[in-house]
Amino acid sequence: MQPKMQWELVYATRPANAVSWFQAHADCSLRFIGATGVAHDASIIDVGGGTSTLVDDLLEGGYTNLSVLDISALALAAARERLGARAQAIRWIEADITSTELPRHNIDVWHDRAVFHFLTQPEDRMTYVSEVLHAVKAGGHLIIATFAEDGPVQCSGLPVVRYSPEELHAEFGEAFSLLRCERESHVTPSGVVQHFVYCHFRKAAA
Ligand SMILES: C[S@@+](CC[C@H](N)C(=O)[O-])C[C@H]1O[C@@H](n2cnc3c(N)ncnc32)[C@H](O)[C@@H]1O
Repeated sequence: MQPKMQWELVYATRPANAVSWFQAHADCSLRFIGATGVAHDASIIDVGGGTSTLVDDLLEGGYTNLSVLDISALALAAARERLGARAQAIRWIEADITSTELPRHNIDVWHDRAVFHFLTQPEDRMTYVSEVLHAVKAGGHLIIATFAEDGPVQCSGLPVVRYSPEELHAEFGEAFSLLRCERESHVTPSGVVQHFVYCHFRKAAA
């Protein structure tokens, strides 16, 4: 099955608060984004945001230039419905991040929790990294959260690649400095503990 169909099936068959990656609030992501120190009108994108409440809390925190990109139309529709009228303040992009082109050097903060680790093919990871290089401004921020080295080996029946901070840095290369990383023990709605690693990278200034 094509990835898009797989993800549409996930969101068609499971309520948003029952998926294993559900968080009532994306607290670790919010802390990392806050720590970048970007202005409230900075351009922030949540790549593979799905039905995450991250954008709700960013809006609440006063951020005004937000985008959510996801391969699943159903996920984006559910997130928009949850937000009601506030959804109009967000740019919603239905796209596969490995085959889309975002505007050049336009993003201040690129956030991805639990998407990059699904890219098991080196060529997909290379395309993803090229897109980050293309879309993120010089001096911009990259916050990536993946399953840690001791995290699960699959999610939603799909294989994943697990990373240490050093391995993740190696994927993005010398154009990025690794500023900080943190582990998270995520508890799924069914009570299973999954280890994530969050990394904050900064793209070199031009
Ligand atoms: C495990 S979920 C994480 C969702 C969200 N980031 C969170 O933390 O709640 C992975 C998300 O990535 C999306 N996704 C998977 N592959 C993608 C791709 N190639 N391009 C864009 N989105 C993708 C899925 O539809 C899903 O919403």
